[in-house]
Amino acid sequence: MGEIAISLKNVSKCFKRYRHPADRLKEILLPGKVRSDEFWALRDISLELPKGKTLGVVGRNGSGKSTLLQTIVGTLSPTSGEVEVKGRISALLELGSGFNPEFTGRQNVFFNAQLLGLSQQEVENRFDEIVAFADIGDFLDQPVKTYSSGMFVRLAFAVATSVDPDILIVDEALSVGDEAFQRKCFARIETIQERGGTILFVSHAATMIIELCDSAIFMHDGELLLYHTPKIVVDKYQKLIYSPPHKVEALCEEIRKLNQEKDLPDETEKLPLFTPNSSEFAIPSSGPVEQAARAYYDEELQPSNTLHYESRGAKIIDPQILTPTGKKVNNLVGRHEYIYTYTVEFLEAASQIRCGMLVKTISGLELGGASHSFSEHSLQNVEPGTKVVVKFRFKCLLNPGVYFLNAGVSGIVKGDFTYLARCIDVAMFRVQQEQSLSATGIVDLLVKPSVMVDAEVPEMVKEIELI
Ligand SMILES: Nc1ncnc2c1ncn2[C@@H]1O[C@H](COP(=O)(O)OP(=O)(O)OP(=O)(O)O)[C@@H](O)[C@H]1O
Ligand SMILES: [Mg+2]
Repeated sequence: MGEIAISLKNVSKCFKRYRHPADRLKEILLPGKVRSDEFWALRDISLELPKGKTLGVVGRNGSGKSTLLQTIVGTLSPTSGEVEVKGRISALLELGSGFNPEFTGRQNVFFNAQLLGLSQQEVENRFDEIVAFADIGDFLDQPVKTYSSGMFVRLAFAVATSVDPDILIVDEALSVGDEAFQRKCFARIETIQERGGTILFVSHAATMIIELCDSAIFMHDGELLLYHTPKIVVDKYQKLIYSPPHKVEALCEEIRKLNQEKDLPDETEKLPLFTPNSSEFAIPSSGPVEQAARAYYDEELQPSNTLHYESRGAKIIDPQILTPTGKKVNNLVGRHEYIYTYTVEFLEAASQIRCGMLVKTISGLELGGASHSFSEHSLQNVEPGTKVVVKFRFKCLLNPGVYFLNAGVSGIVKGDFTYLARCIDVAMFRVQQEQSLSATGIVDLLVKPSVMVDAEVPEMVKEIELI
């Protein structure tokens, strides 16, 4: 492992909580009687973040995320334990911190950038760029107290990232910006990453954590429950927030075990997102024979975090993707047909069976799926012990990237309509990069480009088909 940028050793933070505001004063003036309760917002946190890495922080409201960031930034001191930080930190903490509401945006830019270590001259040199990034128009010369929360974050983020920080810490803030601004922020975060900066940020947006982070931590009641790959952390976090209260402790125990088995994330698990590479326009032409030859099965490409919901009368077995000629594959060639298939074994008598599938991106975005009732077939009523093979034929109109599949079976068991079996991320596949393809985004719209050369003489107008 490389150099460590942030290191926490057994860090705990205790807040005193008073039932009545006056008790705080009474405790100072009349020592002897304790009028407060202790509240541990951080419990024995140990964590090392290598330089140049991006760490995401997730957890429910009140789990200690902001407290953790503030102890790293130094605006809170830990009750016990050690925090060590190497490099210049620039932080965007909760709304309101750092900016003086009575001053104008312009004054705050100077004030803050200097606090972050820039000289007057350096701020002047970067001023135009900061203002251009924030893009808040005339509000720059209005007092900050008149800003909307979005404007506030625009300016605060522009300043925080303009100082070339070694370490950038962002607490939630970005979620208040509009979409266009968020994209601009991502681009800037990526630039900081490329320059070798270390980044730590809190977000409730699973997509952001998965797309931007190398690893993530999961905070729960002041405890660092899990330090793992972003995908695994987000999955466990989502599982926890949807768990009924009586199952939370058992789930936490399961997550702690996972954390002990593997306390540092393996970077190779971060799968590449879509990576366009070629600028040529062309659509590959290949028949099914060639498809079968180019699509293949890679043993290593397995979902690492399949979630099986508790079985309520059926099991989903052996989910896989086949070519139309029956070859098992998970590295697909785009624009061809495939069959997603799984076997359902019924453990209870059931009726009105529906089987479903769903394709998602790595960040969980639902791209498409289907749920089909087979009641007109032999699945109107099934006996325990019945096994059926379900097949979904689909055309893979997806751009290169990695995708995940769900599977689910619903029906009536003992008079209730319910899921009999449901699995999340039960299979995955990759759509291979085609040299000749230049499609962008997720879905392949089978775009056929053409251009028109606009000339003065009408006969000269030409339409050029680019394919
Ligand atoms: N100054 C304080 N005095 C007393 N308790 C505090 C103080 N600051 C935070 N807490 C408590 O510590 C716990 C953790 O708070 P923290 O702000 O770190 O949570 P969080 O994970 O950032 O939550 P959110 O998602 O809502 O931002 C909360 O229960 C909160 O009430
Ligand atoms: Mg917070």
